[in-house]
Amino acid sequence: MNAVDLIVRKREGGALDTEQIAWLVRAYMAGEVADYQMSALLMAIVWRGMDARETLDLTLAMVRSGVELRVREALTPVVDKHSTGGVGDKVTLAVAPLVAACGLPVAKMTGRGLGHTGGTVDKLESIAGFNAALSQREFLDLVQRHGLALSGQSSDLAPADGKMYALRDVTGTIPSIPLIAASVMSKKLAVGPSHLLLDVKVGSGAFMKTRAEARRLAETMVRIGEDAGVRTRAVLSSMEQPLGRAVGNALELAEALAVLRGEGPDDVTALCHHEAVTLLTFTRVASTVAEAEKRVHDAIASGRALAKLAEVVAAQGGDATLIEDPSRLPTAPVRLTVPAARAGYVAAIDAERVGLASVRLGAGRERKGDPIDHSVGFVLLAKVGERVEADQPLVEVHARTKDAASQARETVLAAYTWSDDLVEPPPLLLGAVERKRAAGRAPRRQRARVP
Ligand code: URA
Repeated sequence: MNAVDLIVRKREGGALDTEQIAWLVRAYMAGEVADYQMSALLMAIVWRGMDARETLDLTLAMVRSGVELRVREALTPVVDKHSTGGVGDKVTLAVAPLVAACGLPVAKMTGRGLGHTGGTVDKLESIAGFNAALSQREFLDLVQRHGLALSGQSSDLAPADGKMYALRDVTGTIPSIPLIAASVMSKKLAVGPSHLLLDVKVGSGAFMKTRAEARRLAETMVRIGEDAGVRTRAVLSSMEQPLGRAVGNALELAEALAVLRGEGPDDVTALCHHEAVTLLTFTRVASTVAEAEKRVHDAIASGRALAKLAEVVAAQGGDATLIEDPSRLPTAPVRLTVPAARAGYVAAIDAERVGLASVRLGAGRERKGDPIDHSVGFVLLAKVGERVEADQPLVEVHARTKDAASQARETVLAAYTWSDDLVEPPPLLLGAVERKRAAGRAPRRQRARVP
C-alpha cells in the first residue's frame, strides 16, 4: 500500500477501506508513514470527513496499536465515565466514588488539564502522596478489590492516538468530529469497560460551542462504542458558565467532597446525581430510577460515598485524612475578594475566559509537561441568575502573589455580563443520546476480534 494514494483518495472525497486504515495506523506507528504524510491525511479528513464505518475502523486501529486491558473480562458490569472537558468540571471526582459506593465498579483512566480545561488527575494530585501513575496490574487489582481505581492514562493504551494527537495539535487538525470521536473512544475502548457514560459539554467553555455540534459528536461516539461492544450513552450538558463555584485543582476537589457530603452547589450536585442515576439504571444495578435515586441519596447520607473515596485515596498512597478534612488541602498564600462593580443580575460568565485566567494563575498548563500549582484558582460567589448588590463580594481569587491576584481580578471581572432585569439560570442538561441495537445484530468487535 502507498500513503500518497490513500491521501489522494481522501483528498478527492473517497472512503478508505478497513485494510487501508489498519495499514495506515500500523505503518505510521512503525515510522513507514512520515509525519508530513499523516498530517496531509489528517487535513484531508478535516475537510472531507469520514463515514461511520471509517470512523469505527480508525478507532479500532488505534486501539490495536497498544495494549487492551479488557476490564470487563475481569468483572461485569464495570463502568467508565468520560467528560469532553470544561471549566470547574469536578463531576468525575464525585460520581466515581458515589456509584462505586452503590456497588457499581468504576475503572477510570483519566487525563491532565490542557488549554483552559482542567483534568481529573491534576485535581487528585492536590492530595499529598496520591499516586495516579498506576501500572495496569495495580489498576485492575484496585478495581477488583475496591470497586474503584483512578489512574492517569497509561501510555501503552492506544499509543497511536498519543502520536496522532500530538501531530493534530500542531497542524490545525483538532476540530474534526470523526478525529475527536476516534481519539476519545480509542482510549475508552482500550480500557474496555462494559458500559460507558459520556458527558459531552456544550458552550463557551467547551470544545463544542453549539448544541448541534455536540449532538453530532455524541452520536458518533455512542455509535462507535455500541459497534465495538461497549454499551454507551451520552448526556449533553451546558458549559456556558463554569460548573459549580470552584475553579482550580484543590478548590475543585474540595467542592467535589462537598457534593459527597450532600453540601455541594446546586448545579454540580444536580449533574452528579443525574449521571450517577443514569449509570446505575443503565447497568441495571438499580432496576428503576426511583431505586437508583434512593441508593445515591443513601450513599451520600450514610457517608459511604465519601468513605469509598477515602479508601481508594489511601490504596493509591494518598493522605486520606484530607478527604475528611479538606481544610488541609493546599491553600494559596494570597486570597483576594473581588467586589461587584455594580448592582444587577448576573447574565453570563464566560467559562473559557475564567478557565484561561485560572491557567494564568498557575492552575493549568500552557504547554504539556508544565508544572502546575494545585492551590490557586477562583471561587465564584455569584452565578448566572443571581442578584448581586454593588460592592458585594463577587469572586475570591486564590493566587501565589499579589500581582497575579490583581491581574486575575481584571480578567475574571471581564468574564461577567450583567443585566438589570431578572435572568433565568440556563438549563444544565441539554439532552441525551443512546442507540438501540437492532435485534440480532452483533457488535462489530465481537464479529471481527483480533488476537
Ligand atoms: N480529547 C481527546 O482525547 N481527543 C481529541 O481529539 C479532542 C479532545
